[in-house]
Amino acid sequence: MLEPVMQGGGYYNKHSELQARSAAQADGVLARALAAVAVPTGPLVVADFGCAQGRNSLRPMALVLDGLAARAGRERDVMVVHTDLPHCDFTSLFTTLETAPDRYRHGRDHVFSSVIGHSFYDRLLPAGSLTFGWSSFALHWMSALPQALRLHIWPVLGAPDEQAALAAIAARDWRNFLKYRAEELAPGGQLVLVVGAVDEAGASGLEPMMDLANNVLAALVTEGPLAAAAYAGMTIPSRPRRREEFIAPFEDGGLPLSLEELVVAETPNAAMLRWEEAGDATLFAADIAGFFVAAFGPSLFGDDDGLRALFTDRFTAAVGMAPAQIARKLVTATLRIRRL
Ligand SMILES: C[S@@+](CC[C@H](N)C(=O)[O-])C[C@H]1O[C@@H](n2cnc3c(N)ncnc32)[C@H](O)[C@@H]1O
Repeated sequence: MLEPVMQGGGYYNKHSELQARSAAQADGVLARALAAVAVPTGPLVVADFGCAQGRNSLRPMALVLDGLAARAGRERDVMVVHTDLPHCDFTSLFTTLETAPDRYRHGRDHVFSSVIGHSFYDRLLPAGSLTFGWSSFALHWMSALPQALRLHIWPVLGAPDEQAALAAIAARDWRNFLKYRAEELAPGGQLVLVVGAVDEAGASGLEPMMDLANNVLAALVTEGPLAAAAYAGMTIPSRPRRREEFIAPFEDGGLPLSLEELVVAETPNAAMLRWEEAGDATLFAADIAGFFVAAFGPSLFGDDDGLRALFTDRFTAAVGMAPAQIARKLVTATLRIRRL
């Protein structure tokens, strides 16, 4: 499986407004977590799990830092640790942290940044050192695939007999994430997580878009530019979870964590909002294609720039022909978790 990092060269930073707009719905949960988190003596540690290129981390990190400053004072040293996979475009992350007009270190003399390139399904930080953790749009990414899906690229739309093996990996990943965060969090520490989810009907909001993308790829096989064997190996290792799947590790007991809040709900889709406002299907298609390629391009195309470009042209045209079919709100789960 290709490491499911985002499209490099800063592309994800430029094409991830959908994730940013959706995650902003978690502001209320974030505020409650910051009011409740236990503030230890000494330096504080904040982690941002699955930071990608950093653009979408700046706003939530600023909120976290302001919330902690309100509790501990602006003179308290805070280390912000951004984490992602080894092949993440860390150059864009470092540049964003240094040069973005809204960089959170600007005007905050006691705030420092560091970066870890290692999976968050593993231990990342010293025991008991973490004060506050944030993660958005990262925890639905899987550590492995059982095998490529037979007829689709999107696990939600895989065949019924393919679902159990996918669910088992997603369950193992979720338990590992919680297990290691429980070791890292200080007593009373808090996590706020925004994660891809499915509603009661099993929809994440992305299925019409994924069907269209799958059809475009199948057409490229029929026409020749995409080898059937290459298509057969294409699966996006990302699986939104059901409410019960999020809850299961807390019900089993054994983890020193308490699930304080869980909201599974539709959240705004920035491209859809813009389309509804401006009525411009071409702009909508460009927004959706940018979102798709930024998040899913590396998992499907790897370094094959030609195939990615061909797909992008065909997919953009197809979305532009059927915007109403693609425009859906995004289902997410927002969780607030407290270390006992
Ligand atoms: C869609 S991006 C989200 C980026 C940002 N947090 C946001 O809200 O826009 C998902 C990120 O999670 C990272 N990721 C996926 N699996 C991971 C893992 N096992 N450990 C660490 N990061 C992972 C990917 O590399 C990617 O940068």
